Amino acid sequence: MTAAATVRRFGVVAFGSAAALAVAVSTYPGEAAAPPATELRDAASFASIRSADARSQAYFTEAAKVIMHPRCMNCHPATRRPTQGDNMHPHEPPMFAGESNIGPAGLACSSCHGDANVTTYTAGIRSIPGNSHWSLAPASMAWQGLSMGDICRQVRDPKRNGDRDLEAIYHHMAEDHLVGWAWHPGDGRVPAPGTQKAFGALIRGWIDTGAKCPA
Ligand code: HEC
Ligand code: HEC
Repeated sequence: MTAAATVRRFGVVAFGSAAALAVAVSTYPGEAAAPPATELRDAASFASIRSADARSQAYFTEAAKVIMHPRCMNCHPATRRPTQGDNMHPHEPPMFAGESNIGPAGLACSSCHGDANVTTYTAGIRSIPGNSHWSLAPASMAWQGLSMGDICRQVRDPKRNGDRDLEAIYHHMAEDHLVGWAWHPGDGRVPAPGTQKAFGALIRGWIDTGAKCPA
């Protein structure tokens, strides 16, 4: 096990050494092992995979470069607390979405997040992200800390995906404007790779080949 994985598994408390602590401050439970993807392959480039099952898994694996990008994952955390930035650190100021997904009465997400991104020059923050539906994904839709395969199985499971069939999942991924924010995230934030259209085409391919999940 690597030092980072050890810290993830056992937490900082078990360690006295400064080295372990240094790792702990730069690593968060939901943080991806690899840096966020910057490019997205075209759905057409998977057409040559003969087996429909393998092609389906390949479509999802490519789409996961978007799904597992910090722009998406920050709103699909393992706890009721949103995360921020490419390293998915806890939201500052501390924020608890609760069961409503929109935050406590008196400090709803919309007290700071408006209908659109707002460029700002305060406290080292370049912009405050915004969208009219800004809120945290419900607990059943938490993705941080899950493997790609487990996210895939959760996304296609109506019991956990908000009672959506695969067509509804397609429309949400390909057309929803809150999902679309990830490609227009405001000053100082790296967008999700590709375009929402190219991402939608990968999801279309995945569904049309039986929505198979990677192991
Ligand atoms: C008191 C103000 C405030 C409230 C309330 C607030 N936020 Fe934020 N949020 C911010 C600011 C400011 C940023 C930008 C910080 C930065 O970029 O470093 C931010 C950034 C984020 C991001 C990071 C986007 C990214 O990919 O980096 C997410 C996700 C987020 N907020 C979700 C929420 C949710 C969900 C709620 C309600 C449960 C909420 N916030 C409530 C001020 C707030
Ligand atoms: C600002 C927060 C926010 C961001 C950013 C965000 N989501 Fe979500 N997501 C939500 C909320 C809230 C819901 C629940 C909506 C509902 O059920 O109507 C949700 C639900 C979903 C669902 C439905 C089912 C499921 O299994 O989770 C999918 C799929 C999804 N999001 C994909 C994405 C993708 C892909 C991205 C990035 C390109 C993304 N989301 C970015 C807040 C966000």
